[in-house]
Amino acid sequence: MTKPRHYLQFKDLTREEYEHLFGRVRWIKDKFKRYEPYHPMFDRTLVMIFEKASTRTRLSFEAGMQQLGGSAIYLNTRDSQLGRGEPVEDAAQVISRMSDVVMIRTFQQDIIERFAANSRVPVINGLTNEYHPCQILADIYTFIEHRGSIQGKTVAWVGDANNMSYTWLQAAEVLDFKVRVSTPPGYAIDLASAGLAGTGHFEVFADPMEACRGADLVTTDVWTSMGYEAENEARMKAFADWCVDADMMAVANPGALFMHCLPAHRGEEVTAEVIDGPQSVVWDEAENRLHVQKALMEYLVFGKVEA
Ligand code: CP
Ligand code: NVA
Repeated sequence: MTKPRHYLQFKDLTREEYEHLFGRVRWIKDKFKRYEPYHPMFDRTLVMIFEKASTRTRLSFEAGMQQLGGSAIYLNTRDSQLGRGEPVEDAAQVISRMSDVVMIRTFQQDIIERFAANSRVPVINGLTNEYHPCQILADIYTFIEHRGSIQGKTVAWVGDANNMSYTWLQAAEVLDFKVRVSTPPGYAIDLASAGLAGTGHFEVFADPMEACRGADLVTTDVWTSMGYEAENEARMKAFADWCVDADMMAVANPGALFMHCLPAHRGEEVTAEVIDGPQSVVWDEAENRLHVQKALMEYLVFGKVEA
């Protein structure tokens, strides 16, 4: 049996593979918009395992698999044996014998790595504490749609050193752009979690305004990610100055975009003026989750498909 390709971190695919993927996203999205059926996944099954809440990830994977002609099954920790201590390795053996592709949203990256090591079919990271590669895939595709290639461009990250920021840092190395990062004291980027090759594609700034200066894209995320709720009160104080506002957007490049993976908290990590303003492309980002993940599943299950 040939080993399946997994998508557990952004760096699991090469720049050349991303270029192929972006072409496929365009083709699949255009076809979908013209209501032309494309059913390569006929008779195929996606299993989605959620150990954390979700709106966009569940919806986009489930709708995407159905649109490709296949079906999707939703499992969560509460009402499956996953919540009752069945070893992840055993779950992977069983689930991957009954499906063609698996998406997992869980806590530590180690859980998804162990699942993948025991899976007969491709495994996709639908968010872990460390990474959220499907979201960054959608974000970069959205950037390309609005502004063209991201290579050589500058992204400002304002806020938490979390799964989104670490995935942006990996993407910068793979696709050759720069990230200017500003996190509050005590919440600095942890290089070990970032899984970087150390190619110098990011710079750290104490002042979030400085991080935004000259950026082509300004992006942020919630101050408290899922699984860190106990730290919420301390985080609300520590992050108070890391709110993306009109002043930060004003020092970015003219025409800079604003992105947020959603769900957002207006008045915390971003002002309503910015997220609901003309530079914001958050709804395109959300929609593109659907299109990029359809192309990703196609690639992992069938390899390179030419139009
Ligand atoms: N952005 C994102 O992954 O959203 P959900 O948590 O709703 O899936
Ligand atoms: N960083 C957030 C992203 C939610 C889509 C979290 O992990 O909760």
